[in-house]
Amino acid sequence: MVFFVDPELARMREEYAQSGLHETTAGNDPFVLFAKWLSDAVAAGIVEPNAMALATASADGKPSVRIVLLKGFDLAGAVFYTNYDSRKGRELEANPHAAAVMLWHPLQRQVRIEGAVSRVDPAESDDYFADRPRGSQLGAVSSPQSQVVSGRSELEVHFDRVESHFAGRSVERPEHWGGYRMEIHTIEFWQGRQNRMHDRLLFERNPTGWDVERLAP
Ligand SMILES: Cc1cc2nc3c(=O)[nH]c(=O)nc-3n(C[C@H](O)[C@H](O)[C@H](O)COP(=O)(O)O)c2cc1C
Repeated sequence: MVFFVDPELARMREEYAQSGLHETTAGNDPFVLFAKWLSDAVAAGIVEPNAMALATASADGKPSVRIVLLKGFDLAGAVFYTNYDSRKGRELEANPHAAAVMLWHPLQRQVRIEGAVSRVDPAESDDYFADRPRGSQLGAVSSPQSQVVSGRSELEVHFDRVESHFAGRSVERPEHWGGYRMEIHTIEFWQGRQNRMHDRLLFERNPTGWDVERLAP
């Protein structure tokens, strides 16, 4: 069997020429900087600027990664929503630590976060669930996320059954679906620069605030 691999792949590279990220302008509160970078990504018209790759690991240390959407970010941490019985949910219950990365490619920026994860308050999940479009609510109730199914029709039959069940009334949040909050123990900002001399500033929590260090690119 012959696999097609673009011979240009190894030679593809982008020259990064953005202005830099300096210790002085970064400030000493990474939440303020993160909020600024996220709003820059929104202003730049990036599609789903809140998408992040979320890495979890099983109890015996085997990693897995997938995209989820960041739905909240404050001093308590970064919030995303999912199915608690999914692969990521099961891994987080067994090993409540995660790492995540967001890429805003047109801005040549990446942000990495790491920290402990816990379920958000059920009331907070209820509020967010109630705010979702009805179709997404029905999908969340009906889909046994990450489980093997016999085919698409099994999912469609299940969706239709759930839709009829909730006909004429609001959809209740199922217990197996809700939010996780990832505490921010470390957060690293990466800004692409010329000649691979990128800027990397790593903020690490200390008992009173943050330590900041520059990492080599
Ligand atoms: C752009 C994008 C956004 C997504 N957002 C979410 C999300 O917020 N929550 C979620 O559970 N899955 C989301 N997914 C689907 C996940 O990537 C993944 O397929 C699913 O959560 C099952 O992962 P798991 O089997 O590792 O638990 C998203 C996928 C994409 C491509």
